[in-house]
Amino acid sequence: MPYDGFLGLTRPLKFAFTFDSYSRGLKEGFTLDQLEGLEFAEDATVEGVSSALKKLGTVEMIDGVKALTMRLGSSSGSKADWDLVFNYCEGYGAVAGRESQAPALLEAWGIPHTFSDSATMAVCIDKSKAKMICEHFKVPTSPFAVIPARNSWPNDTVDILACVDNSPHAERLKEFPLFVKPSLTGSGNGVSQSNKAENREQLVKVIENLSKEHPESSLLVERYLAGKELTVGILGTGQDAKVIGVREFVFVKEGGPPPYAPFIVDENDLYLSQEVYGHLNKAGWDATRPNPWPRRLELNDPLAQAASKVALDAWRALGCRDAGRIDLRMDCKDLTKAVPNFMEVNTIAGLRPEWSDLVQLAEDNGIGYDQLIAEIVGQALKRLGMSRLQVE
Ligand SMILES: Nc1ncnc2c1ncn2[C@@H]1O[C@H](COP(=O)(O)OP(=O)(O)O)[C@@H](O)[C@H]1O
Ligand SMILES: [Mg+2]
Repeated sequence: MPYDGFLGLTRPLKFAFTFDSYSRGLKEGFTLDQLEGLEFAEDATVEGVSSALKKLGTVEMIDGVKALTMRLGSSSGSKADWDLVFNYCEGYGAVAGRESQAPALLEAWGIPHTFSDSATMAVCIDKSKAKMICEHFKVPTSPFAVIPARNSWPNDTVDILACVDNSPHAERLKEFPLFVKPSLTGSGNGVSQSNKAENREQLVKVIENLSKEHPESSLLVERYLAGKELTVGILGTGQDAKVIGVREFVFVKEGGPPPYAPFIVDENDLYLSQEVYGHLNKAGWDATRPNPWPRRLELNDPLAQAASKVALDAWRALGCRDAGRIDLRMDCKDLTKAVPNFMEVNTIAGLRPEWSDLVQLAEDNGIGYDQLIAEIVGQALKRLGMSRLQVE
């Protein structure tokens, strides 16, 4: 049955749902760590999305790009005549191109799909490239330089800091602290408090270590953003894009304050020992003792509005589609001067029910899980032209 009252659909839709599941990944021999790095989908996410889609129509489940290839190429069986592919494939093999794999295949076959196209996925998975585009369109993003992937260095004795010293932002990058992170990882992988460099000597060390841990990825050296951390949930495409939720992540002092009730935390204490949302915080997330602590902001709160403007400008500049999340940080602690800066966009944002940030941002503002999935479908249909579906 079509979603009750949803966009006036005249018939159930025919979906394919493409994803990369943990369970298949394990069968293929990937380790849990590798799968986490690849951001494969947990059972709860696969189940959540598919059951929400089933409220809008029929759903063909396709686990992985290889399965999609076989399905598209198979001469037997039914034709791949889906109205829409809900594409949640992370892809694998090619580090930088993985999220583009399923969209590129679907584009070649002329099959419409949710979320960004292959070219946008390839830009946005690379945090350095996304920042270059944002900078070009005057979206605030901290001054940066890019160090090529260690794999591509001619030898181990290259002058590591030459790229920083010769970058367009060389002057601004002489001031410390700076922050270094891999361009191509997600979910806090390769990110921790120790990525912050207070001087040139530390900077060389951080780059040395990170380039060895992630030789396949270029490294981003950025001005350290010392202010509040925010995430913004977006629904829609281009001028139709709107913000559905904004949260601040409030860092609390290590070990306390019991029982993690930030309203009793002295503002001055907040940024003392923890201020980076790294892998340990994300992988070891404990809902009863969260750090950082997510704080819902009203959409009309001035801080939320400033963040929303930058997030929407970035979303449109990058050409992202349907739904996703943008991570921001203010460039200083003084809120009278602070500007939200673009850090990264999540074009395939987590969709685990009750858990993922985008899901919670939507829930903060009265959009339940099934409705969120339906809205994503709705946004895709809108940009594709709904009439095609209503005619039949
Ligand atoms: N320039 C920066 N200044 C300060 N902190 C940063 C900066 N870039 C990233 N961080 C910290 O690292 C975390 C992870 O970075 P992000 O770019 O969002 O990557 P991901 O979430 O994919 O791991 C951010 O949430 C933030 O806490
Ligand atoms: Mg992030």
